[in-house]
Amino acid sequence: MPEGFVSAAERAAFIAGLPKAELHLHIEGSLEPELMFELAQRNNVAIPFASVEEVRAAYAFSNLQDFLDIYYQGMGVLHTERDFYDLTAAYCARADADNVRHIEIFFDPQGHTSRGVAFATVIAGITRALDDARTTYGMTSKLILCFLRHLSEADAEATLDEALPYLDRIAGVGLDSSEVGHPPSKFERVFARAKGLGLKIVAHAGEEGPPAYVHEALDLLKVDRIDHGNRSLEDTALVKRLAGESMTLTVCPLSNLKLCVVRDIADHPLKTMLDAGLHATVNSDDPSYFGGYVNANYLAVADALDLSRADLVTLARNSFTGSFLGDAEKARHLAAIDAYA
Ligand code: HPA
Ligand code: ZN
Repeated sequence: MPEGFVSAAERAAFIAGLPKAELHLHIEGSLEPELMFELAQRNNVAIPFASVEEVRAAYAFSNLQDFLDIYYQGMGVLHTERDFYDLTAAYCARADADNVRHIEIFFDPQGHTSRGVAFATVIAGITRALDDARTTYGMTSKLILCFLRHLSEADAEATLDEALPYLDRIAGVGLDSSEVGHPPSKFERVFARAKGLGLKIVAHAGEEGPPAYVHEALDLLKVDRIDHGNRSLEDTALVKRLAGESMTLTVCPLSNLKLCVVRDIADHPLKTMLDAGLHATVNSDDPSYFGGYVNANYLAVADALDLSRADLVTLARNSFTGSFLGDAEKARHLAAIDAYA
C-alpha cells in the first residue's frame, strides 16, 4: 500500500467519501442497458438486442469509432421529455452515491434533432432532472452543448442558433465524436461566435488525435479546458505550456482502457500527468459503456498506479478548481476536501 493507506479497502473508503466534481460526462453515455430496454418498450423502438446481457456483450470496442457507432444507436431510444428526464435523473442518483457534489455534463443535441426530436424536448428533460438533483441532493450542475465534429461547421452553427433561446441553461460548448480527420480548425468560426456569446469553451483533443489538435484547441478555439488530452504527453513543449497555463485536462481512465487508448490500466498516464504538473482530473466519460462511474475510475487508477492519499486529494481539488463554478463555491468545496482529508 502506498503512503497513508493500510489496505485497499481503506483506500476505496477514502475515495468514496472524498467530495468530487465530474467534468467529463456525456449524458447519453450514462444510458444503462436496463433503461435502454425500458425506453425501447415505452416508445415502441426496435433495438437489435434480445437481453441486457446481450447489450453488455456488445460493449467490446477496439477504438473510438467502434464505440460511437453503438453509442449513436443506443441514444435512438430517447424520444420524450420524460426519457431525457429519466436518463439524467438516473445519472444524478449514481453521481450522488459516489459523493459527486458538482457535475458539468455534455449533451449531443445533433444526435437527437437529426432523429426528429426537438431541441426543446432534450433541454427540458435534462434541466428538469438537474433542478431536481439540486433540491434532492444539493448537487450543483452546468450543462455543456457538444458539437459533433464528424458533421459540418454549418450544422454546428445551426445547432448554436437552436440553443440561443436556452443560453440561461447552457454554460458552454464542446466538441466530441470522431476526432481523427476532424481537427479543431474545422470549427474555429462557430467557437468564436460561442465565445462572443459568453459561453465557456471545451474540446475533446488528444484522445486519438495528435498533439497538433491540442495546440489547435488552445490557439484556435481558445478552450477553457481540454477533454482527454492524453497525447499531449508526446510533445514536451505542449506539456510545459499546459502546465504553465494551469489548463485542466478531463481524463477518463476506464474510457481510455475500453477504447484502447491505453493497452493496460497500469500503462495509464495519469500519474505521469500529475508528476509533470498537469491539472488532471478523473471522470467517467460514458459510464454505462465503459464499465464504471467516477469512483470506479478513481479506484482503477489508484490501484494500478499506486496513487497516494495526496494524489487523490490533488485530483479531487483539480476537479473543483477546473470547474466553471464561481470562486466562492470553489473555495467552499476545497475547504470540504481539506476538512475530509
Ligand atoms: N470521445 C469522443 N466523442 C465522444 C466520447 C469520447 O470519449 N464519448 C461520447 N462522445
Ligand atoms: Zn468524452
